[in-house]
Amino acid sequence: MKAVQAVRFGGPEVLVPGEVPDPVAGPGQVVVDVAVAGMSFVETQIRRGTDRWHARPELPYVPGGLVAGRVSSVGAGVDGAWTGRRVIAATGETGGFAEQAVADVGELFPVPDGLGSPEAVALHSDGSTAQGLVEGAGIRPGEWVLVEAAAGGVGSLLVQLARTAGARVVGAARGSRKLELIRALGADAAVDYSDPDWTRQVVEATGGAGPDVVFDGVGGRIGREAFEVTARGGRFSVHGAAGGEVTVIDPAEARRKGVEVIGIEQLMGFGAHVARWAEHMMSEAAAGRVRPVIGQTFPLERAADAHAAIEDRTALGKTLLLI
Ligand SMILES: NC(=O)c1ccc[n+]([C@@H]2O[C@H](COP(=O)([O-])OP(=O)(O)OC[C@H]3O[C@@H](n4cnc5c(N)ncnc54)[C@H](OP(=O)(O)O)[C@@H]3O)[C@@H](O)[C@H]2O)c1
Repeated sequence: MKAVQAVRFGGPEVLVPGEVPDPVAGPGQVVVDVAVAGMSFVETQIRRGTDRWHARPELPYVPGGLVAGRVSSVGAGVDGAWTGRRVIAATGETGGFAEQAVADVGELFPVPDGLGSPEAVALHSDGSTAQGLVEGAGIRPGEWVLVEAAAGGVGSLLVQLARTAGARVVGAARGSRKLELIRALGADAAVDYSDPDWTRQVVEATGGAGPDVVFDGVGGRIGREAFEVTARGGRFSVHGAAGGEVTVIDPAEARRKGVEVIGIEQLMGFGAHVARWAEHMMSEAAAGRVRPVIGQTFPLERAADAHAAIEDRTALGKTLLLI
């Protein structure tokens, strides 16, 4: 079958299309004919070899941890009724950038009728993360919420979920195309954080008090500056470091400011809830209350361009391979 492999750690050019043996379902596993392969920001860091959170895959490896498609065969001990069903399948950190992928049967999630496979992939991964973050931060109606990387996969959903929770939203991102998208998603204000003055604009948008809730998916300088303007009594929720180091706040400093910090370690508790959160997001999408933004899609052989779009920050919303 056709697949894309990372032949070494490095830039997007290490993703090389080629042929690999067809996979076979082992006991408790299925093979999925892949229609859509998802990817996330952290997978670009794994490919670069700079990620510190996941075990390094052995080279060469097929990237992609989440696919959608139909089950084409099942292994020993798996109910044959799965065959032919349209599913989302988590493949672990690797294996998705291929015509076929293997997954444990416990990692399958049926795609509801009426929902497209690309939308289902976006909602299962970024959607469940966004829902988990929103539940963790406990947004109250009328609060001001600041979302960083608000035009990205997780960010574009956080903007919408915060609005649905009755909050007022400031979305922050880089560049006018992204600010336009953030406004179209319903944010009350959109601010460009490549402007050195950006936090003053955030404070101004929130009527002088600063945001009650911050979703920090960027870290580094941006995360630190966002913490500085978080309102007293607010929550500062950390979920990523796309732009640098993870934001770590000294607990004494947080206490002095009267801000509750929900650190990056919150993500470790997310796994057990993914199915419930994904299901919730899919029903929200079916009801028209949330819309996954699929900004760009690529064919399998252009996987390198897909990763490059994420890393050079031209991508809007979710990036997918259509196979
Ligand atoms: N996807 C998930 O389910 C998931 C789960 C756990 C944690 N996270 C974390 O959540 C954050 C967002 O993840 P995502 O998958 O939805 O990615 P994404 O937001 O679609 O892409 C990364 C975003 O980071 C921003 N960014 C800021 N500085 C950057 C830099 N130096 N290089 C590249 N991008 C930069 C970019 O927006 P601007 O150009 O507008 O700044 C870009 O939109 C990441 O930190 C990720 O590790 C994601």
